[in-house]
Amino acid sequence: MILPDMIEAKKRTDKEVLKINYKKNKSYENMGKGKLFYLRTYGCQMNEHDSEEIKGILYSVGYIETLIMGQADLIILNTCAIRENVHDKVFGLLGRVKSLKEIKPEVIVGVGGCMPQELSVSEKIVDKLPFVNFVFGTHNFTSLLDFINDSYNLKQIVNVESIEGNIIEGTPIKRNSNVSGYVNIILGCDKFCTYCIVPLARGKQRSREKEKIIEEIINLKNNGYKEVVLLGQNVNAYGKDLYTDYDLSELLKDVSDTGIDRIRFVTSHPWDFSDKMIDVIKHSPNIMPWFHLPVQSGSDKILKLMGRRYKVNEYISLVKKIRREIPYSCITTDIIVGFPQETEEDFNLTLNLVNEIKFDTAYTFAFSKRKGTPAEAMEETVSEDEKLNRLHILNTLVNKYSSLSNKLLENTEVKCLVTGISEKNNKRYTGYTECMKIVNIESEEDITGKIVLVKILKAKSFSLDGVLVTK
Ligand code: 5AD
Ligand code: SF4
Repeated sequence: MILPDMIEAKKRTDKEVLKINYKKNKSYENMGKGKLFYLRTYGCQMNEHDSEEIKGILYSVGYIETLIMGQADLIILNTCAIRENVHDKVFGLLGRVKSLKEIKPEVIVGVGGCMPQELSVSEKIVDKLPFVNFVFGTHNFTSLLDFINDSYNLKQIVNVESIEGNIIEGTPIKRNSNVSGYVNIILGCDKFCTYCIVPLARGKQRSREKEKIIEEIINLKNNGYKEVVLLGQNVNAYGKDLYTDYDLSELLKDVSDTGIDRIRFVTSHPWDFSDKMIDVIKHSPNIMPWFHLPVQSGSDKILKLMGRRYKVNEYISLVKKIRREIPYSCITTDIIVGFPQETEEDFNLTLNLVNEIKFDTAYTFAFSKRKGTPAEAMEETVSEDEKLNRLHILNTLVNKYSSLSNKLLENTEVKCLVTGISEKNNKRYTGYTECMKIVNIESEEDITGKIVLVKILKAKSFSLDGVLVTK
């Protein structure tokens, strides 16, 4: 049994990152033939992307996905540890899995991803959930077939390593979309914001080699993909661990030169967002003018406690610079309310910031104490009720500006990437603008997978309605 170790998880050394090529064990060739798997994913795009690789691994040995848990021979939960509320959902679902296993004991169950990287979670599964066959972490999901194979012989397998992390290339992948593809550019995080579990759950910051990234993007383009989303917990740190003078702006230039239609990147830390990046984006029409820049709070005192390394004024200057250089850009953000020591005054400063920036949209969260993070030791000063109250006030303001930003598009023509057909109406398609606004598009012709011009007829708070422009 390998249990996670928070002290090991915090370690950062300059040991070279191990590069491994994924290898399939020949004896597993038909392991999943005639069998169905059910995969449930929680959390961020990084987790969704890991799940695409988990699916790729399973399909490579004959498994087929089912969306009905009761039909599955194999159930896998790929979990998220960022906030406590996901824990409740995962353990709730595991309750249903337990009942299912009472009727179908042959079903194999695996729990992986970020949650088991927390010692308390892995221990809880060992102590209370013996029906879970295997538990794995973020560093070893590519060994999935070994875990499944061993589950037929062993009682419960727990293999959650707390290592600094390696890079595994060549993992099979079954992508969720054939229009837009996720591409990892940097794994892990070294920022250690005081509230955040990610640096503990996903290891040290490590960049993929630029050649591998470009090769993957060219492959996607050759297979008809219109968009790539470059992924990392902090993409702005790209290259720092690998090259002396090749950074995210250089990578963006090279990705732009592949000629793929649309390029996006998430998530940026405002602290190392360079002028050079703004310049590259400004001069590359295929890099989308959409900036997701988590600010977290509008109070310098709270930002300091969060370990965010910038002041509110610096953030405002950055946004102003982006808007000056790239006038049609959109700025979205993440905000946490109820951080320890956040007073009414600090919260009002966050509201002031929202009023000043008028974000195109914001993802808002109530602070959730995570074990092993520096904020665990901070005394909670905001009650759960007050957190919800602040969240409600903040959301009302955020929604007002989202609606206003959408309203500006009414009666204009915008380019949309169409991702699919509406489930309810086959003359309606779903797409999104260059700034990531969702559009429901009326069209007589099949426009799936295309970039089309759409006239926006009506703006709503969270989406737009439009009609295909035919010329
Ligand atoms: N509590 C609340 N929100 C959090 N986030 C990260 N950690 C926590 C936490 N402990 C939010 C941040 C981050 C987003 C992905 O999740 O806003 O940007
Ligand atoms: Fe977490 Fe901060 Fe790293 Fe983002 S930059 S993943 S918030 S530690």
